[in-house]
Amino acid sequence: MKHRTLTLALLLTAAAAAIYVSVHAPRAAGAGLDTQRRRAAGQRRHPAAPRRPRIDYTKFSHTTAAHRRDSCASCHPTPSDNWTSVRARDSAFPDVTDYPGHASCLNCHRAQFFSGARPAICSVCHTSVSPRAGERHAFANPAESFARTEKGRTRPREFALVFPHDLHQDVMARLSRPGRGGVGVGFVRASFAQEALQKERPNSCSICHQTYRPRPARASSTPAPSPAPAATAALLPEGLLKTTPTGHASCFNCHWQEGGERPFSSDCAGCHRLLPQVRPPALPAGRDADAQLAMRAGFTDPFVVRKLLRRESATFAHDEESHRGIDCASCHTRIPAISTLDETTLKVPILSCGGGSGCHIGARPKKILNEEVDKRLADASFRCVKCHVNLGSEKPPRSHLDAVGK
Ligand code: HEC
Ligand code: HEC
Ligand code: HEC
Ligand code: HEC
Ligand code: HEC
Ligand code: HEC
Ligand code: HEC
Ligand code: HEC
Repeated sequence: MKHRTLTLALLLTAAAAAIYVSVHAPRAAGAGLDTQRRRAAGQRRHPAAPRRPRIDYTKFSHTTAAHRRDSCASCHPTPSDNWTSVRARDSAFPDVTDYPGHASCLNCHRAQFFSGARPAICSVCHTSVSPRAGERHAFANPAESFARTEKGRTRPREFALVFPHDLHQDVMARLSRPGRGGVGVGFVRASFAQEALQKERPNSCSICHQTYRPRPARASSTPAPSPAPAATAALLPEGLLKTTPTGHASCFNCHWQEGGERPFSSDCAGCHRLLPQVRPPALPAGRDADAQLAMRAGFTDPFVVRKLLRRESATFAHDEESHRGIDCASCHTRIPAISTLDETTLKVPILSCGGGSGCHIGARPKKILNEEVDKRLADASFRCVKCHVNLGSEKPPRSHLDAVGK
């Protein structure tokens, strides 16, 4: 606290000085311009003179060597002061939900903090570069609110997530065993996990992956509700997608700071690994579905839209009656390798559509894949619509031909 007061006092003094300089010393500013002109002229005379690249102090990067020198905790102490106010009371847990404070930068960046009336470096965290405005951008965690901001849409991704599914499968299986009265661990968002397990076939995956917008539960005696507006009803089935964790709620109750499983919640690098190359945050163009379809189907959550655009089969609905009872692992065959940054690990093989009893693949009686492949081979203008939206107008891939024995 003392440090903060001191820091602010320092900042304000420096800012006042900077303003003084800019108001009272126009000649100094003019001199600066002159110097620049002279330098530019000098460069023209010596075209080979090395120019130091200008450093952009509005954009922080974790890959800069000096930023990797100290531990993650040197800038991200856990928890941040605002953790109690960022989430609703019943779902709050100790977490890093704010930017590092000034103290974590000042030792190295005194010059940038005290440069002029509008130091560029402030805008890494603050919405305006003015010494008095303390307002900050949303921090990247919680991810949901951040994703809806301009910064959230444009800041590149610097980290990959480390989540070894295989190591966790045993732990989870133990916890969700029937007869244990729900989830054994008091999950950080206990209500969230309990709900998940009650609604679905209790399996360990549902602790972290829920059905997004499940089909409305219908008692068998009540008649089906009148159909949804035609526009959405026809587009995509209900209960299409599964969610994927976007934050710490499903991790920190086991990986808490004092005495939990390693990596502790304070050990950021235990779960976040720097990527060799930053990734643009932009949404992918879309494989089977595109942004227009997502919009027309009423998906606005950027995380959900991203899932839909990544899909190869946009119409596959997890919550469909006959899909719901199938074990996740019979379709998701590469669980131990899963990484959302490597598409090949996310592929659901076409053979899993056959199921044990040849649900969608088979010659007698002719199942949908066989039927669509035959029609497509006979007529190039035929579109496959059972499992696809856009991909259905392409040529059937090798995997499909193999599956039907062509
Ligand atoms: C020198 C200070 C510093 C260190 C050390 C540091 N961070 Fe950060 N971190 C920041 C700042 C500043 C931001 C906000 C950047 C922004 O929003 O532009 C940030 C943001 C983040 C974010 C969210 C945005 C993103 O890039 O995905 C993650 C995740 C993160 N840090 C993880 C880590 C991990 C893991 C480590 C250790 C390997 C680490 N940080 C070390 C200063 C630091
Ligand atoms: C250990 C010293 C050190 C610390 C601590 C540190 N920086 Fe840096 N920072 C550097 C160095 C060195 C560079 C490379 C550019 C240069 O030579 O000035 C740099 C570069 C930057 C840049 C330019 C873009 C980039 O990442 O290369 C920004 C923005 C920045 N720092 C912001 C911050 C902020 C904000 C903090 C505190 C959260 C911080 N730095 C903490 C040493 C440090
Ligand atoms: C690495 C992120 C970061 C950078 C860079 C940064 N700030 Fe801050 N700033 C914060 C945080 C976090 C707080 C809240 C700290 C607290 O309350 O202890 C804060 C608080 C403030 C406040 C007080 C606001 C309040 O409500 O108490 C002022 C004023 C301020 N900063 C100005 C600046 C100026 C001017 C710069 C640039 C010279 C700057 N900050 C750079 C993160 C940053
Ligand atoms: C009958 C096969 C099948 C079963 C059973 C199944 N999935 Fe999927 N899952 C898929 C397909 C197909 C996709 C989309 C893959 C694509 O299009 O690239 C998918 C995608 C996903 C995704 C990414 C988000 C999305 O919806 O596109 C998650 C997460 C997921 N499944 C989790 C689960 C979990 C957890 C279970 C068990 C509760 C489960 N799945 C059961 C076939 C299945
Ligand atoms: C139910 C408790 C539990 C939850 C929830 C949990 N973990 Fe773990 N985690 C463990 C246990 C137990 C281990 C140690 C496994 C072992 O070493 O066999 C572990 C190990 C790890 C490791 C270290 C793996 C290694 O190579 O040593 C990472 C990384 C990890 N967990 C990440 C996560 C992430 C990310 C989440 C949230 C998405 C999460 N965990 C949620 C219990 C949990
Ligand atoms: C036990 C594993 C684990 C630890 C330890 C951990 N995180 Fe995370 N973090 C996750 C998971 C899981 C997500 C959500 C999925 C994703 O971002 O890919 C996440 C998301 C985030 C996000 C928002 C999304 C993003 O990636 O930008 C930030 C910011 C973040 N973590 C910062 C930190 C910081 C800072 C620390 C250390 C104080 C830390 N995390 C420690 C597992 C962990
Ligand atoms: C403790 C939480 C946790 C549990 C339990 C868990 N997962 Fe995951 N799962 C994650 C996280 C975190 C990611 C994101 C990994 C990444 O970003 O690389 C993920 C990613 C996935 C994906 C890719 C999702 C996508 O968005 O494309 C699938 C599919 C998946 N998991 C299936 C399963 C299945 C099947 C099970 C049960 C055997 C399971 N998961 C259990 C946390 C969990
Ligand atoms: C029963 C559901 C189903 C039917 C019917 C179906 N597909 Fe697929 N399709 C999938 C699945 C699952 C994948 C992802 C696995 C794969 O690539 O084999 C996929 C992938 C694709 C891909 C992308 C392959 C790649 O590697 O890039 C194309 C193109 C495609 N299908 C075209 C078609 C065409 C054309 C038809 C009609 C002849 C068709 N599909 C019928 C389920 C189906």
